[in-house]
Amino acid sequence: MQASQTYPQHDIKQIPYHVAIIMDGNGRWASNRSLNRTEGHQEGAKVIPSIVKSFGQHDVKMLTLFGFSTENWGRPKSEVEAILSLAKDFIDEHLEELHQANVKLKHLGSLEQLPYWLKNRVQHAVQKTSSNSAMTLNLAFNYGGRADIISAVKQLIDEGFATNEITEHSISNRLATAGLPDPDLLIRTGGENRLSNFLVWEATYTEYYFTETLWPDFGPLDIEKAIKEYGRRQRRFGLITD
Ligand code: IPE
Ligand code: IPE
Ligand code: MG
Repeated sequence: MQASQTYPQHDIKQIPYHVAIIMDGNGRWASNRSLNRTEGHQEGAKVIPSIVKSFGQHDVKMLTLFGFSTENWGRPKSEVEAILSLAKDFIDEHLEELHQANVKLKHLGSLEQLPYWLKNRVQHAVQKTSSNSAMTLNLAFNYGGRADIISAVKQLIDEGFATNEITEHSISNRLATAGLPDPDLLIRTGGENRLSNFLVWEATYTEYYFTETLWPDFGPLDIEKAIKEYGRRQRRFGLITD
């Protein structure tokens, strides 16, 4: 049997190459201050640029941020609209600065259900930064791990794949994350210890780090703690070590 797809292609060093984050806790951050949930999302969006910068300073080469899940459409319309509009504002306010910092933007998830004004901006941002190379920032927005796997399976069927041609490789290559290394470290803020449909295929051998810190309060000290903790983990990928 071929070696598992889950082996990272890069060296597993003290510093994770790819960090994925479930940015959770905006609503509770707002409730704690008697603000409405939208204000929590505003604060949550505000901290993103400094977080990207901070990970870059730690030499993390790829960052994936979970901003909106396929399940989040079920929230009240006003909250969903506020989140979509914040995503637009984020691109408008930070695209140039991310481009100047040589950051490559990628979108994970489906653009189909998004309003045209957001879809256009995301496509423009991805296209504009496509040749950048200092860091890759994947924005998981309208993303669901299960929806992504379903979409990959449909593609395999449409392409006429035979059962013996279905491999980890053929599936991985049809996911939104095709060509990207699996996350080494997955951080979830906000105190919940679950995946909530994020990177269900890709995070099988990822190291998980859960913190009580609510996303708008997440900062350089939390990043340092998470990376230090990652350095203490022993990754085995199902094998044994000497
Ligand atoms: C995460 O914060 C942002 C999104 C899911 C869009 P929440 O809105 O889930 O905040 P909590 O978990 O209710 O505090
Ligand atoms: C996960 O958080 C989605 C994002 C952070 C974008 P949720 O708040 O939606 O997850 P649950 O409902 O607590 O599982
Ligand atoms: Mg939440």
